Amino acid sequence: MTTVIKGGTIVTADLTYKADILIDGDKIAAIGPDLSGDEVIDASGAYIMPGGIDPHTHMEMPFMGTFSADDFDTGTAAALAGGTTMTVDFCLPDPDQGPLDALQTWFQKAGPARTDYSFHMGVTWWGQKFFDEMPKVVDAGINTFKHFMAYKGALMVNDDEMFASFTRCAEIGAMPLVHAENGDVVAFLQQKLMAEGNNGPEAHAFSRPPEVEGEAVNRAIMIADQAGVPLYVVHTSCEQAHEAIRRARQKGMRVFGEPLIQHLVLDDGEYRHPDWDHAARRVMSPPFRDKSHQDSLWAGLAAGSLQVVATDHCAFTTKQKRMGLGDFTKIPNGTGGLEDRLSVLWTKGVVTGRLTMNEFVAVTSTNIAKILNVYPKKGAILVGADADLIVFDPKATKTISAKTQKSAIDYNVFEGVEVTGMPVMTFSRGKLAYKEGDVRAEKGDGRFVERSANAPVNKALSTWKELTAPRKVERTGIPMSGV
Ligand code: URP
Ligand code: ZN
Ligand code: ZN
Ligand code: ZN
Repeated sequence: MTTVIKGGTIVTADLTYKADILIDGDKIAAIGPDLSGDEVIDASGAYIMPGGIDPHTHMEMPFMGTFSADDFDTGTAAALAGGTTMTVDFCLPDPDQGPLDALQTWFQKAGPARTDYSFHMGVTWWGQKFFDEMPKVVDAGINTFKHFMAYKGALMVNDDEMFASFTRCAEIGAMPLVHAENGDVVAFLQQKLMAEGNNGPEAHAFSRPPEVEGEAVNRAIMIADQAGVPLYVVHTSCEQAHEAIRRARQKGMRVFGEPLIQHLVLDDGEYRHPDWDHAARRVMSPPFRDKSHQDSLWAGLAAGSLQVVATDHCAFTTKQKRMGLGDFTKIPNGTGGLEDRLSVLWTKGVVTGRLTMNEFVAVTSTNIAKILNVYPKKGAILVGADADLIVFDPKATKTISAKTQKSAIDYNVFEGVEVTGMPVMTFSRGKLAYKEGDVRAEKGDGRFVERSANAPVNKALSTWKELTAPRKVERTGIPMSGV
């Protein structure tokens, strides 16, 4: 059974051209004019793009005394409806739980996934067992390790632990990720604000100012440089963080930055909303920033100093958010966005002229496929690549509303935003997984995507570090002592 998508315009990270696409099984079999197949999909007037890859989601995440409300079933349904065909979630070992053991739990959780998926391994604690098991995690197909520099007393790791883990990553050809905020300062500011009676959701933003993020990004970059490993900074939300990444890249360091669609379009005015629920629903870390930071993030995407737009989809219901009534430090941190990432980015980015269509594909799919070392299986429209494709109608419009979303929560942080341009069909490994409001992929259709270590950027950096490593000078003469 073959399928041909006819009459559309293919948009990739580097090309825009008219051609048909033939899908055979789960792969792209041919690209060219006048192709035929058993089933024909008419894509006249639409763009065909690689399916979105969201490298930052938290399904059913155990966090702050509860679990995020979207699991791999509802969360990946939302992903497909939004044109995303692969998600990367975070496997988070309990204190002293071995990473391989935790991985079994996350494989179980991901059973109902409708999209393909992978995991980052959270380095939630440090010790010999973690060190020993890291190469086995890589053997299991995971080449990225996440470090939380915040959430003191819970997920946070200290600098010495981070340096040891980054060094281990360098040895095994893996890449560290960081949630970069100075956790000690955040914890102090939280206590101070609470003591002053500042206990509403707006205090969440006051407890995590941009400088606190900028400092941590600089620190993580320094530690990665000393360990000789590339670095990926998740949810880059402000100019201070972007500036650190930009400067490091300018110096030849291998650092990647990931703004979220939320930070690109929503600002800290949300926390001043008179309705407690409205403000609490938008509590995430880092918090939404003053609008001025948005220009920096958009410019970074256009300039290439920031590479990926993700969501950090970590959805909590209003009821869960109310766990923090009277104490903002107990509001579960996280917002949704998976279903809206592409249409909002297109509307606020491509329609406005901030991004080209090709840059849109780069930051939603191709760049992260390369960083995760799954390109061109994912993130490409090439013969032999997985047929993860979206049919994107640039004229289609909708008003975002929780009433029509696939996510399990009872609100949407983009409620009321009018989008122009959205995916109308999503193909996941050759199968029509979503069409015009209807998720067709079954629970469990998703497959684990193995990602091997020693990506090109790891190899290049380790070669350079070896070449420029300190070397003892072999001297020809040694002065006589005391003369
Ligand atoms: O507030 C957030 N971002 N929640 C999810 C966990 C994390 O820090 O990524
Ligand atoms: Zn985070
Ligand atoms: Zn609002
Ligand atoms: Zn996250």
